[in-house]
Amino acid sequence: MKGVIIAAGYGTRFLPVTKTVPKELLPVGTKPSIAYILEEFLASGIEEIIVVTSRRKKSLEDYFDREMELEEVFRREGRADKLAAIAPCGAKVSFVRQAEMRGTGHALLQVKPFLGGEPCVVAYPDDLHIGSPPLALQLIEAYERTGKSILATILEPGDVSRYGVVGPAADGLTVKSFVEKPAPGSEPSHEVSIGRYLYTPDFFDLVEEGWGRHSGGEYFHTYALDALIAAGRVAFKRVSGTRLDTGDPAGYLEAILADAAANPALRPVLERFARGMLASGGAS
Ligand code: G1P
Repeated sequence: MKGVIIAAGYGTRFLPVTKTVPKELLPVGTKPSIAYILEEFLASGIEEIIVVTSRRKKSLEDYFDREMELEEVFRREGRADKLAAIAPCGAKVSFVRQAEMRGTGHALLQVKPFLGGEPCVVAYPDDLHIGSPPLALQLIEAYERTGKSILATILEPGDVSRYGVVGPAADGLTVKSFVEKPAPGSEPSHEVSIGRYLYTPDFFDLVEEGWGRHSGGEYFHTYALDALIAAGRVAFKRVSGTRLDTGDPAGYLEAILADAAANPALRPVLERFARGMLASGGAS
């Protein structure tokens, strides 16, 4: 099974830094956020990864390349720890460029020729997952049980109108309907889709078919998903673990704090800072 990371977006919520730094390279601890998805894929047995990128994100490709100069320096100095920090990631990572920002359906269209007619796990780069079993593996297991495309879901995330919401069928497994960002009160349930999907090859055929009929502007994969749902070919998997959403500065901060809280070297800093803030009544 291959993994796909859709990483061509402009990252406008992080301007001005994203004028020059892809948001996928913003650090959570000392690792760029995209490395967390890579680790999730590897832990799920996914070793071939396609990143959809763009001409504005050349440093993303560099990140996955060898750092020969540093390797040489650290080898000379006998710095095994530093060598380990820059060791190749262990996956075969390739890149496909999306020449125009024409939506997620258009991004998925770019990877279709490289999937060899096999299912794949698609990740949105803002959704990080902490926990075991790794998120992609939870989807792969659901696919192996059902043979269907799988949407990763969580229950009751707060404001459901910010998400794609699943209307579950009576079997509690199949997706009966899917409403993208429903008006408050009109949602079919509180089971929301997060940025991880396992798509079967028929999904990509439908993405291509929908593109053929598309008449301009951004192209999302709504047509393909709706058609697959109507055919009873989509299931959902309520996933376990912690979801971190680095899509905006607030969620990004939370990811950094979660990482620091789990790191014995950084946790005391966090505690000291929190105590100081609480004592002084918070920052003003
Ligand atoms: C996207 C998807 C939505 C999903 C969400 C999860 O929305 O379209 O279905 O619930 O990611 O983060 P976005 O947040 O990109 O607007």
